[in-house]
Amino acid sequence: MERLTPLIIRRATVADASQVAAVLNAVIAEGRYTLFDKPFSDAEEEAFITSLGDRAVLHVAVANELIVGVQCVDRFASYAHSVSHIAHIGTWLLPECRGQGIGKRLWAESLAFARHCGYRKALISVLAHNAQALRFYRSLGFTDIGVAREHVQLNGTFYDEIFMERAI
Ligand SMILES: CC(C)(COP(=O)(O)OP(=O)(O)OC[C@H]1O[C@@H](n2cnc3c(N)ncnc32)[C@H](O)[C@@H]1OP(=O)(O)O)[C@@H](O)C(=O)NCCC(=O)NCCS
Repeated sequence: MERLTPLIIRRATVADASQVAAVLNAVIAEGRYTLFDKPFSDAEEEAFITSLGDRAVLHVAVANELIVGVQCVDRFASYAHSVSHIAHIGTWLLPECRGQGIGKRLWAESLAFARHCGYRKALISVLAHNAQALRFYRSLGFTDIGVAREHVQLNGTFYDEIFMERAI
């Protein structure tokens, strides 16, 4: 893809559902960078965006009116107040748009949002073979917590997953 300037980072709205699903589905189709293993429909993505509460956001990176990247900040868990200080993060970019600093731009907005919401730490999990994502998150200040063995099954194969965290 041509140089992605100007790039806009903004909150997703329901009207973005189709393009957000397209980004997620491009990563899912690669079959090795996310634990999601079936494509999202536009309706599922609409429902997800609609369901986001006060302490959750989906940021989108937009170039030439096309959504090329997505980053989600959400509560790690909703079942107990004791872990309400933990944000869970996920990032997905179109393959041709990686390695150009877009993930970092998304993180700047997501970090500001997480601080505004009062989160104290962020948690992510990355498939152990996903070298680009590991470098990306380490460059953002995330440190490895540990490896969960055979944590994710994709197409009948079990993969290790690395959990990482950083203070907000
Ligand atoms: C992982 C991902 C989100 C990173 O986003 P990105 O926009 O490609 O990353 P950036 O360009 O912002 O790079 C930030 C840092 O990551 C590292 N990095 C990213 N791509 C890299 C590459 N191809 N080679 C080496 N380092 C790389 C660098 O340290 C870079 O810092 P620098 O620009 O100061 O050198 C993106 O590649 C992606 O969507 N991958 C597929 C989906 C995925 O794996 N998601 C993560 C699991 S939730």
